[in-house]
Amino acid sequence: MYRDNPLTNISWHDFQKLTPEQKGPYFLREDRPYHVLTAQQFSRPMLERICDLTTKIRLIGKTKGGIHFLQDLLSEKRAMLYFVQPSTRTFLSFYAACQILGIAPAEVRDTTTSSEVKGESPEDTVRTFSSYFDLIIMRHPVGGFAERIAWLLSNTNRPIPLLNAGSGKDQHPTQALLDIYTLQRSFESHGGIERKRIAFVGDLGRGRTVRSLATLLLLYPGVRQYFVAPKELQIGDDIIAAIEKAGMEYEVCDDFEQVVPEVDAIYMTRIQDEWDASHESRLTDSNRFHFTAKHLAMLKPDAVLLHPLPRRKEIDVEVDSDPRAIYWRQVRNGMWVRAALMLTIFDRGVEIDRYYEDLVS
Ligand code: CP
Repeated sequence: MYRDNPLTNISWHDFQKLTPEQKGPYFLREDRPYHVLTAQQFSRPMLERICDLTTKIRLIGKTKGGIHFLQDLLSEKRAMLYFVQPSTRTFLSFYAACQILGIAPAEVRDTTTSSEVKGESPEDTVRTFSSYFDLIIMRHPVGGFAERIAWLLSNTNRPIPLLNAGSGKDQHPTQALLDIYTLQRSFESHGGIERKRIAFVGDLGRGRTVRSLATLLLLYPGVRQYFVAPKELQIGDDIIAAIEKAGMEYEVCDDFEQVVPEVDAIYMTRIQDEWDASHESRLTDSNRFHFTAKHLAMLKPDAVLLHPLPRRKEIDVEVDSDPRAIYWRQVRNGMWVRAALMLTIFDRGVEIDRYYEDLVS
């Protein structure tokens, strides 16, 4: 058991009582992410470092020599992608990021193909992965399950890092990292993310991407967040409480067309009715929360339009060709950010710095 793993120093009973902010330090090693479980565990310097590494990896990956250098960095590692909820982007971008770094990926995407079908507990299934792999990347429908597994593995003789690739309705921290990187690149030439007005639109109550990104935006002074949704799908009180505690500005409203011309970034989301046993959200009038070609004329010339995807009809396909629509760039950034994150976890960032220095000198 690693002595410097803080999760070995607290019982599960006591750990559960902590707030997300109090839990954050338990997921770190020497100020670097070890487990990646929540947005609250990140500091501004950590975000800056991950964004810096991402840019360097992107540029190194443009040359054949650079590709070979990257593929050797973590070629001794194996990763298990345990995705028991549907995913296109998060699964494939992690898979591709593993390939970029030479990590050998394996996958379980359906519990009916694992011994869970014979009655094995999900905890034992994931513990089994730690016998064969050096990293677990996990998407799971149960909120908090990833934290439970991180604590459990930390208290075995095979503690390995756990990455939350989307948990329940609560957290999607690696999506928030790629969203921050995309926003930072978009605002690079006009003042960065600080003091920008950023609107979230759609199903905010059940949108884990929104909850994680809204949390990271608290690290950027002066950001004003707008939450634009029908009342029954509005953002949770815990996120509003965190914004108020940080002393930052926000607006909760349902007037989409009033907000469009005011903001620097719009983050559209789909109605997440897979969570909706009674299908009440299908009855919600969500047509008012769709970005159509007519809204392009209302949007500021240097504003940007994001979406974590998948989309349904909340952004018209004809909007895609507008240069302010950056969701396809956002998708690609996910691969580079996740590569940077895995290098950070395994403490190999300095090698990226050295290679990059040689490349640009
Ligand atoms: N943004 C996102 O999480 O997409 P997937 O569900 O396709 O992974």
